[in-house]
Amino acid sequence: MPDLSVQLAGLKLANPTMTCSGTCGYAFEYADFMDLSRLGAFVTKSITREERKGNEPTRIVETRAGMLNAIGLANVGLDRFLAEKVPLLEKMPCPVIVNVAGHSYDDYLETCSAMTSTGCVRAVELNVSCPNVSDGLTFGTHPGRLKELVAEVKKVLPAKPLIVKLSPNVEDITLTARGAVEGGADILSLVNTFTAMSIDIHKRRPRLANVTGGLSGPAIKPIAVHMTSRVYRNVARHAGVPIIGMGGIQTWQDAAEFILAGATGIGIGTALFVDPATPNRIVDGLSAWLEKQGVERLTDLVGALELPGDEPRKTPYP
Ligand SMILES: Cc1cc2nc3c(=O)[nH]c(=O)nc-3n(C[C@H](O)[C@H](O)[C@H](O)COP(=O)(O)O)c2cc1C
Repeated sequence: MPDLSVQLAGLKLANPTMTCSGTCGYAFEYADFMDLSRLGAFVTKSITREERKGNEPTRIVETRAGMLNAIGLANVGLDRFLAEKVPLLEKMPCPVIVNVAGHSYDDYLETCSAMTSTGCVRAVELNVSCPNVSDGLTFGTHPGRLKELVAEVKKVLPAKPLIVKLSPNVEDITLTARGAVEGGADILSLVNTFTAMSIDIHKRRPRLANVTGGLSGPAIKPIAVHMTSRVYRNVARHAGVPIIGMGGIQTWQDAAEFILAGATGIGIGTALFVDPATPNRIVDGLSAWLEKQGVERLTDLVGALELPGDEPRKTPYP
C-alpha cells in the first residue's frame, strides 16, 4: 500500500483530503453520507465572533460548470460554536481545522484566541476574503495588510498551525502569498471563490439577491491549478510552507494535478454537493495511481510538475 500520509506544519494527516470550509457545515451533517474516518481532515464553516444569519435568499445558483454562492458567512457565532459544536467535534474520527472569518482585527483576534483552549481544534484557517468594516477593503487582497493581520493572529495563537486562505480576486496571488508567509503563516490554502455574477434574462435581474457571489466548482479548476503552481514555485517552496490546493476538485485526477503543481493537501468543496463521498473516492484513486507508478509516498509527487527550463529529471518516469 502506498503511503498517502502528509505533514502540514507538524500536523500529520493520514491522507491529503480535506473538506472545503462552508461546504459541509460543522461535520456531523455529513456523517451519514461520507466516511469521516477516511478524511485527512475536516474543515468547518467560517466562524465569526457574532452569530450571523447571512444574506437573503437566493443565496446559491447553479452555473454551467459550477456554483455561485453568496451565503454571507451565515454561522452560529463563537459562543454557540464553543458550547454546541466543539463537544461534537471532539468526537470526530479525523483531525479538525476551524475556519475563522472577521470584519475587524478584533473579530479575528478574539475568535482565534478562543481556539487556543479547544483541544480538538488542530489548526486554524483564516478566511481573509472579507471586507474590513472600518474601510470596506478586503483583508486578503493587500499584501501589507494581510501580513499585519497574520502577524497579529500568530501572537494570540502561537501554538497551533495557522493556515491562511488566499483570495484569487487579486492581480498577482504570489504577492499576497508572500505577505501571508512574511506575517508568519504556517500553511497556505488556495483558492477561495472568484467574484462573479449571473443574470436572469427574463427578469433582467441578478440571480443572486446579493447581486454578486463566489464562483466555485469545475469552472475554476484550471485557474486554481495555475495559481497553486505559481505560489508553490515563487513563494511556498523556498519558504518551506506547505499548500492546501482547492478549486473544482471532483476526481483523483484533479487532485493529482494540484499535487504535481505543489499542493500537499487537497480541499474538496462543491463536489460534495454532487457526491458527499468524493474525498473517499479520491483517496482510493490516488492510492491506485501511486501503486501503478511504483511511487511509495504521495509526498514524492508534491511539486513534481516539470516545466520548460526546469533541471532535467535524474530518474526516468515510471
Ligand atoms: C456554498 C459555499 C460556501 C462557502 N463558504 C465558505 C466559508 O464560509 N469560508 C471560506 O473560507 N470559504 C467558503 N467557501 C469557499 C470554499 O471553501 C472553497 O474555497 C471554494 O468553493 C473552492 O473549492 P471548490 O471549487 O471545491 O468548491 C464556500 C464555498 C461554497 C460553494
